Amino acid sequence: MKEIVRCEGIWKIYNEGKPYEVRALSDLCLTISRGSFTIIGGPSGSGKTTLISIMGTIERPSRGGISIDGKNIAGFSDVALSSLRRKRIGFVFQDYNLIPGLCAWENVSVPLVPEGIPIRERKDRATGLLETLGLAERAEHSPEEMSGGERQRVAIARALVNNPDIVILDEPTSSIDKESVSGLLDIMKGLKAQGRTIIVSTHEERLLGNADIVYELIKGRLTGHADNNGMHQ
Ligand SMILES: Nc1ncnc2c1ncn2[C@@H]1O[C@H](COP(=O)(O)OP(=O)(O)O)[C@@H](O)[C@H]1O
Ligand SMILES: [Mg+2]
Repeated sequence: MKEIVRCEGIWKIYNEGKPYEVRALSDLCLTISRGSFTIIGGPSGSGKTTLISIMGTIERPSRGGISIDGKNIAGFSDVALSSLRRKRIGFVFQDYNLIPGLCAWENVSVPLVPEGIPIRERKDRATGLLETLGLAERAEHSPEEMSGGERQRVAIARALVNNPDIVILDEPTSSIDKESVSGLLDIMKGLKAQGRTIIVSTHEERLLGNADIVYELIKGRLTGHADNNGMHQ
């Protein structure tokens, strides 16, 4: 399969040079294939969120190169990067980051505002997506009135509203109940069937078996990966 994201010698050092600096990622190399479902595992604090935020172009690495479709994005301005992100990448945050006071469809339509799409079309697209995710009846509800699983589907709809080909989810099972996990899995299988590339940070066993490849992060280093052919170093 063709590569879509490549990390080459990525370092992320928070508060660099200060006594309390943190090496969150050390010299990490990783390639994501187009259309694949990749899981990043590893204990809390191992750097999962940092890594997927860098792959999602939300964070920049301290050192190292990151390429999307073979193009190094290191030289991209913040404006160019956010434009690329809007078109290509859907990110579902661990705590969803929904905007309180906006109802579900309004939350979903937020990424369409900078695209200059008229409100009528924004509403149609947002409610259409909520419908496909089984939330037709919740379109006018605000996030505060919803269960964790429903809020998550609103966040997924918002991540998908610009039709991105890369979808990233940060610990998507951390605040949903066990019953919602199979629904989440169905959503991810559907996204993969549409040809999208899926990157997920998780410990959830039930997701592991469905991934094409599982990486393990320990203290900011990749310790190996497992795919259908077993363990590799
Ligand atoms: N904005 C930040 N400033 C300083 N340290 C951070 C920041 N974000 C994360 N860290 C630290 O980087 C390390 C990796 O964090 P993170 O990527 O959130 O790991 P995980 O998602 O695996 O729990 C942790 O030690 C964490 O405390
Ligand atoms: Mg995290």
